[in-house]
Amino acid sequence: MSTTETKFWTIDPSNVDSIQIEEAAALLEDNQAVAFPTETVYGLGANALDEQAVQGIFAAKGRPADNPLIVHVADKNQIEEVVTHIPQMAHKLIDAFTPGPLTLILESNGSCASNVTAGLSSVGVRIPDHPVARALLQACRLPLAAPSANRSGRPSPTSAEHVYKDLNGRVAGIVDGGATGVGVESTVVDCTGDRPVILRPGGITKEDLEEVVGPTDFDPALVNQKEKPKSPGMKYTHYAPEAPLWLVEGDLDFLQSQVDQLQQNDKRVGVIVSKEHAEQIQADEVQVCGSRDHLNEVAVHLYSALRSFSTETIDVILCESFPEQGMGYAVMNRLKKAATQVITQDK
Ligand code: TXA
Ligand code: MG
Repeated sequence: MSTTETKFWTIDPSNVDSIQIEEAAALLEDNQAVAFPTETVYGLGANALDEQAVQGIFAAKGRPADNPLIVHVADKNQIEEVVTHIPQMAHKLIDAFTPGPLTLILESNGSCASNVTAGLSSVGVRIPDHPVARALLQACRLPLAAPSANRSGRPSPTSAEHVYKDLNGRVAGIVDGGATGVGVESTVVDCTGDRPVILRPGGITKEDLEEVVGPTDFDPALVNQKEKPKSPGMKYTHYAPEAPLWLVEGDLDFLQSQVDQLQQNDKRVGVIVSKEHAEQIQADEVQVCGSRDHLNEVAVHLYSALRSFSTETIDVILCESFPEQGMGYAVMNRLKKAATQVITQDK
């Protein structure tokens, strides 16, 4: 694609500047693509009602056309404008968790451009909880289709610098609102059936959802890799760092032995470990990504850790495994997708 001049704005989320928001909103109203922060990761937004505007997102990201986009809206009324109806369980989820890191899959009423939903009869909607995202949505009064603002296949961006590296010259604008909060994307919940089904784990845990709507299932494809995922995007390579990532299931000695073996074969090894293990591990580069006791912290730092290694200095990245509980479920889902292999210690 030809290069575009990308405009930049830096906005303090605690004191949102309306002039800058108006400028960014004007580009969105002009059907151009603008990246902005949400509470999960940065999104690349465009008018969800306009096919050409949405096409600009697919082109900038290099995203496969069969992967539908999430529509971001300002409030519940705006959800009603793009769906046939809101089932009871979705009402409960919206009231309990939005604005927030939750995407609901509902029956589409056909208002959004057909490339938003990639031809599906359903549409993903979410009300983000970030002052900059909310101000933009209010200023342009458009539903905004917005996938994560990374080149397709790369880790999602949690800072404006990440977006700049992937999309400068490919999008009309980037709004820098500082680092995002949650660090992994929203939880995608299918509400078109009898009970809620989690298609992608994320910022709201299964336990959180069950407190509000009772028994909630995981899409079988999340549990068994042979199943076809119901969320089209879940089948693609995702979150991949520059160097191959090996996910290591085992204790710290096992992780160290894997580093040692690679180094003996002249490989430069980067590791991603928890705070608890950082002092004890020896490797060429060590990235700390939060505490094993606070998996929310690991989520916050995960993508920037994956992005921190360059093939100029590192040949292989090893990452420790985390417990698949609470936010650990989303963290491990992303790591398994990012990894080229999983290495498991013999018991
Ligand atoms: O936190 C987030 O959700 C971020 C921020 C920017 O809001 N957005 C995000 O979008 O992660 P994206 O495009 O990277 O991921 C959207 C996911 C994909 O796995 C896609 O397949 C799924 O949602 N999805 C979207 N619409 C769907 C639908 N109608 N049915 C099933 N899955 C859908
Ligand atoms: Mg994405």
